[in-house]
Amino acid sequence: MSKKPKIGILFGQENTFPQAFVDRVNEKQSAFPAEFVSIEQVEQSVPTDYAVIIDRISQDVPFYKAFLKNAALTGTAVVNNPFWWSADEKFFNNALAVQLGVPVPKTILLPSKERPDDTNHNSFRNLKHMNWEGIFQHIGFPAFMKPHAGGGWKSVYKVDNPEQMFKAYDETGQLVMLYQEAIDFTDYFRCYCIGGKDVRIMPYEPRNPHHLRYAAQMQTTGDAGKKLLATMTDYVLKLNHGLGYDFNTVEFAVRDGIPIAIDFCNPAPDADVHSVGQANFDWVVEAVANMAIERAKKVQKGKDNLTWGTFVRGSVMSQDSATPAKDAKPTKGATTEEAPKVEKAPKAEKAKEDKPKKAKK
Ligand SMILES: Nc1ncnc2c1ncn2[C@@H]1O[C@H](COP(=O)(O)OP(=O)(O)O)[C@@H](O)[C@H]1O
Ligand SMILES: [Mg+2]
Repeated sequence: MSKKPKIGILFGQENTFPQAFVDRVNEKQSAFPAEFVSIEQVEQSVPTDYAVIIDRISQDVPFYKAFLKNAALTGTAVVNNPFWWSADEKFFNNALAVQLGVPVPKTILLPSKERPDDTNHNSFRNLKHMNWEGIFQHIGFPAFMKPHAGGGWKSVYKVDNPEQMFKAYDETGQLVMLYQEAIDFTDYFRCYCIGGKDVRIMPYEPRNPHHLRYAAQMQTTGDAGKKLLATMTDYVLKLNHGLGYDFNTVEFAVRDGIPIAIDFCNPAPDADVHSVGQANFDWVVEAVANMAIERAKKVQKGKDNLTWGTFVRGSVMSQDSATPAKDAKPTKGATTEEAPKVEKAPKAEKAKEDKPKKAKK
């Protein structure tokens, strides 16, 4: 008898969410035992014992990212998709938000202040001088400058004038930075989105000390409040479907009643009871436990069980449709999926017969 496929969680320094998640999954069912992921030898193309792995840490541990890609290739449903997580960054996510119709702050991409290691001025021959005056005019002041692939409020600067901006830029070393308009907000929210369907909107006050940020109240009330909640739910779902995250948070700053998405590239969002509070913690543990069990039930052995966003799926589909089926010949490098089609001789004969008949009509 083969062992039961398991549900695992891979994590780093956090102490409350992983155990609560494992306990809740095990309370809810026994078909897929939950545990902390255990890794010994990682060998290419060898599957793990896990139907599902919730990844909370591979952003900090490249070894885990490689382990997870191998696990995904051999059939584990990894949450979040480690391939997308290797590709995502805030500037692309912002650009996609614009295309999805979700408001975001005006944003410019800045090259790193210092050249990356092992490059010299020749490596940058394609890059013109920055038109700082134009940038300052377009973005205005105050403005935020932050890493294009960052998190945890590291190297996030608010600047009020060009001098402050250049001073901050000098400190950013080899980081590629976003430069964006500051949103002067009346309400601020962080929203969990789990499995592309469960949304929890949490009032959040970023100006409070860390442990009090979730101790906030929504300021918008009445019908305007209801409308705001509905709009944010719609935007949260749009962003997460587009990007293909299973577990993410979206932050909104609300200006003139319009929620503007600030940060929605959080594939290992804070889920510590001491920061999010008991009620949000209970909600997220339950939602992620449900999602993991649902995913485990749907896993097809040895297949790709990852979530891909509509952006990637759309690209793959347009590639597929760009290859007319009638051109499918047994050429060198044809995929294994195409090969059986052309090998099925009887079908090909029938197709030939069909053609003249149709032509007679
Ligand atoms: N454009 C902006 N307008 C207003 N506040 C911002 C803006 N960008 C960032 N902030 C503030 O800075 C904080 C950290 O920035 P964020 O983009 O969330 O980076 P991180 O990924 O490090 O959390 C946000 O929670 C928000 O309070
Ligand atoms: Mg943030």
